[in-house]
Amino acid sequence: MRAMTSQTWNDLPSHPTRWWGLPVLAAMRRDYLAVVTAQRPLGNLVAQRVLGERSVDVFDPALLRAIMVDHADALIRWQRGPEVFADLMGQSVLVTEGATWQRQRRMLMPAFTPKRVAGYATLMTDAAVHGLDAVRPGAVSMDALFSHLTMDVISRTLFSTPIGRDTAAAAQAVQVLSETALAEMFWPVTLPDWLPLPGKAAKRRAGRLLHGLLAQHIDARRASADAGHTDLLGMLMTLRDDATGETLSPQEVYDQCMVSFQAGHETSATALLWWSWLLAAHPAIQARVYDEVDAVLAGRVPTADDAGALPLLSATLKEAMRLYPPVAAMLTRRLTRDITVGGVRLPARTLVRVTPWLLHRDPRWWPDEPQAFKPERFLPASAGQAPPEIPRGAYIPFGLGPRVCLGQHFAVLEMTLIAALLLQRFELRPVGSAAPKPRLAVTLRPEGGLTLRLAARS
Ligand code: HEM
Repeated sequence: MRAMTSQTWNDLPSHPTRWWGLPVLAAMRRDYLAVVTAQRPLGNLVAQRVLGERSVDVFDPALLRAIMVDHADALIRWQRGPEVFADLMGQSVLVTEGATWQRQRRMLMPAFTPKRVAGYATLMTDAAVHGLDAVRPGAVSMDALFSHLTMDVISRTLFSTPIGRDTAAAAQAVQVLSETALAEMFWPVTLPDWLPLPGKAAKRRAGRLLHGLLAQHIDARRASADAGHTDLLGMLMTLRDDATGETLSPQEVYDQCMVSFQAGHETSATALLWWSWLLAAHPAIQARVYDEVDAVLAGRVPTADDAGALPLLSATLKEAMRLYPPVAAMLTRRLTRDITVGGVRLPARTLVRVTPWLLHRDPRWWPDEPQAFKPERFLPASAGQAPPEIPRGAYIPFGLGPRVCLGQHFAVLEMTLIAALLLQRFELRPVGSAAPKPRLAVTLRPEGGLTLRLAARS
C-alpha cells in the first residue's frame, strides 16, 4: 500500500474534463456554485484542471485551516480577482501582497478594532434613522433600502457627510462594477476597458462616477485647514506605521477609501437582505427578536453597548450569514510553493478554492438540519453556558487566516444597529411564499431582488 505522504495532486479525485476544461469555464460563468457543488461528493480535496491550471477544492474545515492559517505564507490571492478589479482597488490592502500588504494591514488594523469601530456607532445610527424615517409601510424593495442605508453609513463614517442624492447613482455604479467583474472573472483574459465591447462603456462610466465621488471628498478634506476629523478618512490620513513612522501615501489613502466604500457596503447590505427575508419567513422567531429589542432598548436609538446586549438578534444575523454568506465563494488563493496537507503534496501554482456556501451547509459540521434557519445554533442552551461548539473553519463568513475581513467588527456593529432600528419600526412580512433563489454576483444576491411588506408596529 502506498504511504499517505506520497500522494500528489494527480492522485486526487476529479471529474473527467474535455476540451481543456473550456466547458467547465463556461459552466462557471453560468453558475459557479453549481460547478463547485458537483465537486463536493468526490472527497475533501478535489482536483480540477482548466486550461492547464490545477485547482483544488477544500471541503474540510481542518484541511482548510491547515492551508489558510498554517501555510498562509505560501499563498497569494488568485490574481484574477485583483485583475478585474484593478482599476478600482488600486494598491489597496485588498489586493497587495507580501511586505506592502503587511505594512498596510498593520497600519490599518487600529482603525478597525472593536473599540475604534464603536466610536462610529452614532454616525451609523444617524444614517439608519434618517433613511428609515423616510420609509412608508407597504411593499418595499429591500435591495434599494439596505443599499441606501449601508452606503450612507460608509459615507458618513468615511467623510462625516451623508451620501445624499448621490446614493442611487453610486449604488448603481457598484452594481455595474460587480456584475462586469464577475462576467470577466471566468474569461481566460481580461480585455482592456477601452475596447468598444458590450458592458465596457457602462463599466467605464461607473468607475468614473465612483472615482469622482471619492476624489471630491478627499480633495475637500486636503484643502481644509481643520485637522481634527474623527472619521475614517481623518484616521487614514494620520495613521503612522509604528515600525517605520511612515504614513500612508495620498494614493494609498484614496485606494483604502475606495475599498472601504466598495467592500464595506454591498457585503453588509447583502447580509441584511437575506436576514430580512429569513425573519419575514419565520414570524415566530421574528416575534422573539422584537421582544428582545423592545426589552433592551425600550424605544431608544441603540448604542454600541446595546449591540452587545442583543444575543438573539445577533444570532439571527450570524445564522443568516451561515445560510447565505455574502461572500459565498471564490476566496481563491494561489500556492507560491509546494505544500503538504492531509498527506497530499500540492505543487506551487495550484489554485486553492474556498467555498463558504458549501462549508456552511455541510451536514458533517452542521448535523442539526443544516438547511434550516435555526439561530439557536449560535446561542447557549441556557444562560451562563457557552454556545454549542462549531468546528473551527466551518463558519467563515468573514474568511479566515491573516487576510480575514478587516471590516468585520465594523460590519457586525453596523448590521446590528440597522437591524434593531428596522425592527423597532416595522414588522417584516413576505410577499409571496417562495424563497428567493440565490445568485452569485460577486456577493450572493436574491435573484430578481427582494420585496417585503413592511407593516408599521403599533
Ligand atoms: C457582512 C459584511 C462583510 C462580509 C461578509 C465581508 C467578508 C469579507 C471576506 C470573506 C473577506 C476575505 C476575502 C478573502 O479572503 O479573499 C474580506 C476581506 C476584506 N474586507 Fe470584508 N466583509 C464585510 C464587510 C466589510 C466592511 C464593512 C469593510 C470595511 C469597512 C470590509 C473591508 C474588507 C477589507 C479591507 C478586506 C481585505 C483584507 C485583507 O486582504 O487583508 N469588509 N471581507
